[in-house]
Amino acid sequence: MIERMSPLEIRDRIFELIKSHHMFFSTALPLIASENIVSEAVKQAIISDFGHRYAEGWPGERVYAGCRYIDEVEGITISLFKKLFSAEFVDVRPISGVTANLAVYTAFTTCGDVMMCLSIAKGGHISMGKREFGGTAGAVHGLDIEYFEFDVNEMNIDVDATIRKVKKLEKDNRIPKLIYFGGSVLLFEHPVKELSEFFKTYDSIVGYDAAHVAGLIAGGEFQNPLKEGADVVSMSTHKTFFGPQRGAILSFNKHSEAIKKAVFPGVVSNHHLHTLAGLAIASTEMIAFGKEYAKEVVRTAKKLGESLSSRGFNVLGEAKGFTDSHQLLIDVFEYGLGGDIEKLLERAGIIVNRNLLPYDPQRGLSFKNPGGIRIGVQEIVRLGINHKYADIIADFFEKIIIKKEDPKKVREDVKSFRKEFKSIKYCFEDISEAYKYIELVK
Ligand SMILES: Cc1ncc(COP(=O)(O)O)c(C=O)c1O
Repeated sequence: MIERMSPLEIRDRIFELIKSHHMFFSTALPLIASENIVSEAVKQAIISDFGHRYAEGWPGERVYAGCRYIDEVEGITISLFKKLFSAEFVDVRPISGVTANLAVYTAFTTCGDVMMCLSIAKGGHISMGKREFGGTAGAVHGLDIEYFEFDVNEMNIDVDATIRKVKKLEKDNRIPKLIYFGGSVLLFEHPVKELSEFFKTYDSIVGYDAAHVAGLIAGGEFQNPLKEGADVVSMSTHKTFFGPQRGAILSFNKHSEAIKKAVFPGVVSNHHLHTLAGLAIASTEMIAFGKEYAKEVVRTAKKLGESLSSRGFNVLGEAKGFTDSHQLLIDVFEYGLGGDIEKLLERAGIIVNRNLLPYDPQRGLSFKNPGGIRIGVQEIVRLGINHKYADIIADFFEKIIIKKEDPKKVREDVKSFRKEFKSIKYCFEDISEAYKYIELVK
């Protein structure tokens, strides 16, 4: 079809597809735990001329001319981040969470060093993955990965078993150089304090991947790893934080030179200045609304966990109140595989992702079609869909997954529910129409 179309027709088709995407999301329930939406103010910054420029190096020490305003914006962003995270040193140049992680690996390790983190089934991210899985840590940086021991009932790192494991590794001369807490499934705070003390006896560097919980940390609702013994924190800026898709690193002044060098010239050249401008605006929104937002996100997630559990769903982490973050993890295996349930929900306009559960590998399930789904409430809370609506959302899940009702029918209910929630909350202007398609050319 594309072969028979003119470039202009193809261009218009692309715009049509983008428009359809906007229409879909404006009538859907977006529950992917790694996504969020930005305000009109952030969008305005993103379409500015910053997006056409280069600013290699550190603010004030660039190797390109024309950066005077960019430098000031970057400087302001750094100051706002220092305040939000009580951080001594901040680098906002990584262009994504993976880039931030790679910069941390580059700053503190060399190829062949051992890194300890969570396995993917237990909540780790592929950027911490082993070489044989194509993970960034193993395949790109050559790290040798060892996993934390994990307690499935607690849905957390098992401190004692991990200490025993490290003592065994010590005998084999394989002491981890870098420890990486955090991950893609992060229901409860990690034992950073307990294990940092232990790892410091080996001079290991302690890192924390806060990609998911950055906004909750900034809002004071989740552990701040820097206050619990971590040397360095990496993050994405667009999951629970209000920013466009980007990354950042927090640390202490004593590590600043190593991190700065690892970021540039290590892993970024230009650092996508339009999203830097967006991040600057998002940081002001976080300072103004972050506390209120983070509190409501955690409250909504907990309430949704209860509502789903009371309808018969196996929501993990029940013993500890299902979650202390924006996420929920549900074992749906008795109703079908995670990938099939994900597709079924999508037909009703409910968007979640399939997720590997800690014990899935033992029951022969892989990440392609695992036994779980992951839910995040951070985006719907930004639309005003808060804890008061948890029962309504849980009803949608029950109808589709347990009662096997026709998703097409539920789709209509989802659409009519969404009609009430059109604008973006927790930002300065109340004019923001979420998912509005902005037309600059006709
Ligand atoms: C724990 C964790 N780290 C890093 C990333 C990657 O972040 P990005 O997509 O910003 O590169 C993700 C993505 O979801 C994640 O869950």
